[in-house]
Amino acid sequence: MPRLRLRVLLWTLTACVCSALPLDVPGLVYPHGDFVIRNLCKFCDLEDSTCDGADKCTSECKKTAICAAVDEVCVTIWRKNDSNVTMETLCHSPAVPLYGFMLDDYNNTECRMKEKKVLGSLFYLCSCSSEEECNNVIYFTEAEKPTLSIPMVTAISLLPPLVIAVMVILAFYRYRVIRQKKLNEEWKKKKKRKHDCSDGCAIMTDDDQSDISSTVANNINHNLELLPIELDLQVGKGRFASVYKAKLKQSTAEQFETVAVKIFSYEEYASWKNEKDIFSDINLKHENILHFLTAEERKVDKQYWIITAYHALGNLQEYLTHHILSWDDLCYLGGSFARALAHLHSDHTPCGRPKVPIVHRDIKSSNILVKNDLTCCLCDFGLALRLDLSLSVDDLANSGQVGTARYMAPEVLESRINLENIESFKQSDVYSLALVLWEITSRCSAIGDVKDYVPPFGSKVGEHPCVESMKDSVVRDRGRPEIPNSWQKHEGLQLICSTITESWDHDPEARLTAQCVAERFSEIDQMDKLSQRSCSEEKISEDCSVSDDK
Ligand code: ADE
Repeated sequence: MPRLRLRVLLWTLTACVCSALPLDVPGLVYPHGDFVIRNLCKFCDLEDSTCDGADKCTSECKKTAICAAVDEVCVTIWRKNDSNVTMETLCHSPAVPLYGFMLDDYNNTECRMKEKKVLGSLFYLCSCSSEEECNNVIYFTEAEKPTLSIPMVTAISLLPPLVIAVMVILAFYRYRVIRQKKLNEEWKKKKKRKHDCSDGCAIMTDDDQSDISSTVANNINHNLELLPIELDLQVGKGRFASVYKAKLKQSTAEQFETVAVKIFSYEEYASWKNEKDIFSDINLKHENILHFLTAEERKVDKQYWIITAYHALGNLQEYLTHHILSWDDLCYLGGSFARALAHLHSDHTPCGRPKVPIVHRDIKSSNILVKNDLTCCLCDFGLALRLDLSLSVDDLANSGQVGTARYMAPEVLESRINLENIESFKQSDVYSLALVLWEITSRCSAIGDVKDYVPPFGSKVGEHPCVESMKDSVVRDRGRPEIPNSWQKHEGLQLICSTITESWDHDPEARLTAQCVAERFSEIDQMDKLSQRSCSEEKISEDCSVSDDK
């Protein structure tokens, strides 16, 4: 049993302590004047108790003491044996064991009993420290864990999904920003680069539109994410679709690239699908074939789109209507158009890679665009056909009589195309090519007196001639657009005129190939270069002879 420490000042009433403490305890005032409150504890030593050791009791001690030493804390010990129950209240230093136990809970502000055993006898002990008789009320139960309020529980349970959602949004945003940046960088890089084949043979040197969005070129946009495009003016209307000038927006709101969007209604799915499939062949890429960016299904508007380069000069028919060409213009337009068709028909790329030959089947001046460098750009592949080796004669027969009657070859008008030979389809395209070359030549100042633009066969056959009236002119009468003798002004023009007549021959097999037509234009180009050189040489020698004479 610990000795009662007489140094302790006792009060019988707690109320007295509050007023008396500062005055009656001189040892508590530090030299510099700071006041330290020591523990105020119940201090009755051992007394009988009525506490039953369940839940919570009060000490029943009437004496309150200020502990003698600064480090002392309040302690209560409850004991029960067969005859009585006692409660012991006291101050004690945690540095010193009490009944063989170190006080391990003296930092608590409440006195919570812990069972202790010493030499077979059981007792309960608690210690605490606070200003106010913390060992007066003693607890036999565990401290209640703080319970959370409903809003707190809700907030805590919502926190993890909320954090995950924010992280997902941030990751997605970051991905979008990085992706957009990457796209822009790639576009910029491609702008600087020429489009080369893998073996280093350049096949594409486009004009100002060539740089457009090469990253999406020849890709079908399977993405749910559609290109950010704002439609502008309508620039064309065909049988199956309308064409719009449009803005392809860049990363910043002000930047955009001009593109063309060909819009098909849902009913024209077959035409869209055919054109998309034709464009999807990477080997189709050529500087004189319309540069394809992507194809999209615009579900919201129930539309299908084909997005391509935009050519501000419009189609060849419009251009010829409003412009008279120079000899050079004729050579550029004719030569580039022949090269486009030769590439389309070819079974290999300029680099020698195998390629599926394609026939256009609707060659006409309104399906050719004029680029800024005054070369041609073949477009509208809605009726084009890939001459796959897997195509059967039946497949070909079912592909039907297609195209525009005015430009149809005699065998197409008669539906007598030789399906056994896939070259027949190319030969029909060449017939149409000849009509376009005739249109170009008719508007060239090199022929002399240039008349207003008229389409091949003019208005004799009506504005939109049907197959039957074209048959009368082309098959029955073997009629062709007129090539006046006056056109054959020089060797180059003569070669163009003979190329035209050889290409619209009634016999498909007698016609030139598109490749051959392209080579004729190369010859003309060579002739022109030679004559320009000899001209300038003549001029030099003339100049010299004049000076010699002097
Ligand atoms: N008309 C049809 N297609 C066109 C294009 N890509 N650019 C300009 N005009 C067109």
